[in-house]
Amino acid sequence: MTAVAKISEVPNFGKKVVNLSGQEVLLVNIKGVIHACENECPHQGSPLTAAIVKDGYLSCPRHGYRFSLADGSCKEHPECTLKIYPVQLDGDEILIDLG
Ligand code: FES
Repeated sequence: MTAVAKISEVPNFGKKVVNLSGQEVLLVNIKGVIHACENECPHQGSPLTAAIVKDGYLSCPRHGYRFSLADGSCKEHPECTLKIYPVQLDGDEILIDLG
């Protein structure tokens, strides 16, 4: 697990992109629960920084594919799965594991 940011740097219902080992990771804060996923849509590679966060899902701004932040699945397009990374909190630090 690697510390990538502080919780206070990711606003509630907001996002922050961090770089870990040359890879962009998107952090999403939903009511104090931090999720981490790749910052590239598995459909056609659009960055997800402008994605809409709603009801535990992230909607890609390009074609609207919706990915579960729990497991990365996309109900409407099951061939596309967003990579989700494990998150741990240590005080105010967000730790993630790229696996
Ligand atoms: S690039 Fe994300 S839905 Fe098409």
